[in-house]
Amino acid sequence: MPKDCKKAYITTPIYYVNDVPHIGHAYTTIIADTLARYSRLIGLDTMFLTGTDEHGQKIEEAAKSRDRSPQEYADEISGKFKTLWDAFDISYDKFIRTTDKEHMIGVQKAFEVMSENGDIYKDMYEGFYCVSCETFFTKIQLYDDECCPDCGKTTSIVKEESYFFRLSKYEDRLLKWYSDDERCVLPKAKKNEVISFVKQGLNDLSITRTSFDWGVKLPASANDPKHVMYVWMDALMNYITALGYGKDEKDMDYWSGTTVQLVGKDILRFHAIYWPAFLMSLNLPLPKHIGAHGWWTRNGEKMSKSKGNVVDPKEVADAYGLENFRYFLLREVPFGQDGDFSQKALIDRINSDLGNDLGNLMNRIIGMSGKYSSFEIDSSNVLKYHKKEIDEADAIIDKLESYIFELQLNRFLEDLWKILTIANQSITSYEPWTKMKEGKEDEAMALVALVANLLAKVSIMLNSVMPKTCKNIADALGFEIDNKNFISFIKEKKLLDTFTIKKLPPLFPRIEEEVLKAPEPKTSQNKKIATEGIITIDKFFETKIKIVTILDAKEVPKSDRLLKLKVDAGEENPRQVIAGIKEFYTPSSLIGTQACLVANLKPAKIMGLLSEGMLLAAKDKEGLSLIRPESPKRSGTAVG
Ligand code: MSP
Repeated sequence: MPKDCKKAYITTPIYYVNDVPHIGHAYTTIIADTLARYSRLIGLDTMFLTGTDEHGQKIEEAAKSRDRSPQEYADEISGKFKTLWDAFDISYDKFIRTTDKEHMIGVQKAFEVMSENGDIYKDMYEGFYCVSCETFFTKIQLYDDECCPDCGKTTSIVKEESYFFRLSKYEDRLLKWYSDDERCVLPKAKKNEVISFVKQGLNDLSITRTSFDWGVKLPASANDPKHVMYVWMDALMNYITALGYGKDEKDMDYWSGTTVQLVGKDILRFHAIYWPAFLMSLNLPLPKHIGAHGWWTRNGEKMSKSKGNVVDPKEVADAYGLENFRYFLLREVPFGQDGDFSQKALIDRINSDLGNDLGNLMNRIIGMSGKYSSFEIDSSNVLKYHKKEIDEADAIIDKLESYIFELQLNRFLEDLWKILTIANQSITSYEPWTKMKEGKEDEAMALVALVANLLAKVSIMLNSVMPKTCKNIADALGFEIDNKNFISFIKEKKLLDTFTIKKLPPLFPRIEEEVLKAPEPKTSQNKKIATEGIITIDKFFETKIKIVTILDAKEVPKSDRLLKLKVDAGEENPRQVIAGIKEFYTPSSLIGTQACLVANLKPAKIMGLLSEGMLLAAKDKEGLSLIRPESPKRSGTAVG
């Protein structure tokens, strides 16, 4: 954080409204909330922005499949995000929606400025598009000739007139930015990936679409009504339109402050390449830090709706406590790395770090002060007996701030906990109860005051992560957490003169067993089925079987068993299925016939080829036959 910087601007990605909030969204938002709270505490004029990304083909299709208008659908899901952040006490200053009129005006303005600066031209786009990732790809980037290299889904071929942004023009300036500004992209490993990507050469970027219309129209000056903005061009601009860009510009000075932009690793390329290039074209400053975090898995598996293992953050927070969950998310994984969510890991953190280290210390201070001095503590002898411990704690605190702004929140918490260790160990080694017995009341009370001061400092620093808990601690110790006390006890390293302690119920009651009845991983479910034999109808319907029409069939080179099929499952794009049926069917005999597909199987790679489902078949001594409908059915018809 630059010394002279008085403004901080913290942003989360804006979330797509095709899905309800999950742990990944909560993770980014909680990191951002922590930074925003810390910035405010240290006295920065802070703006914290979050919101929803509501345009584009993906949202249009999601709304259509539910028979809703895109706006209606966006209103509903955007509302769910806002409600969750309010329930989570997220301290955002502004919640932007890309369907806000002011935002759309700002995006049009940006298009105009980029055009005026000679960075936009019209041409024909020919390539591949992944609707799920809302990303363009060239043939060479695809995996297995037609699949998205990021999510593995089948891409569609796009050939349409488009406006292009001269991204290639900014290649050198981007590389210079990465090399001049050491911490512009964090963590370093992710920055190196971005640099390698840019060094391979950048193509100009298609920034408008004509094949659907759920998007921001081009400005009237372009006089080209059939185009809408590419959703990423629209979405990235939210970071400045939220500050009034293109309208009153009233908050644009936040953009020149300390901008910390949090994103998941999957969307770093958009933020660390396209976004700064757009800003260069608009002659605006670049963000100070773009931080890319890793992904959360559950019990070691990727989360997905079809597996039913997506972690609902509200459910976890309700079951284990919101602030305990916040602590866990920030402490459990180093920023940038993937993390695994399990109730066991969460319970361990709560019982150990929070209960044993912090909660017990609070209990001990209440107990000792009550027993020895009617809840009154005086700090006048602390430095006489415990200067070493106070100096050690202050030295730890000196380094903590840099961890926050380098986004190393796990290091921040790890080091903060060292102060609790100093406090807990001091009690053990100085044994105040023995000192009291020996009549060394001064020494015993100096120890109690040492512990109270260390707890006070910890609660000020921990406040941005666990605001309510720290307020409870501060109330019990008899002081307030605010900027004045931050300066006094953290920056100026002062001690609180006196404390009047109030009793407090235990902060972190021990958790003995998992609170949430989590869905069993599919593998153990299968074992159960095999041993017990009998299943309920609900269990049967967990397997989604669909009628599919085989559109294409090819042999898989070097395989005696496999055929590569393209099947229509009644979805937007055909699926690829790799089936071990080559001995029993020739490719041409399959084309145009129907079969039954297990449609919610985890996609798998077979001989390096993506297989998105399994065909049902029966095999005996006579051979193998596919299970098919007796008479033709519409592709996608559910079986059951
Ligand atoms: N709308 C775009 C962002 C536009 S910002 C100008 C988008 N939205 S998203 O809803 O799909 O994803 C939002 C964020 O959630 C991304 O940063 C993504 O990395 C994050 N996560 C999605 N799943 C996740 C996990 N399982 N774990 C952690 N974060 C993950 O992308």
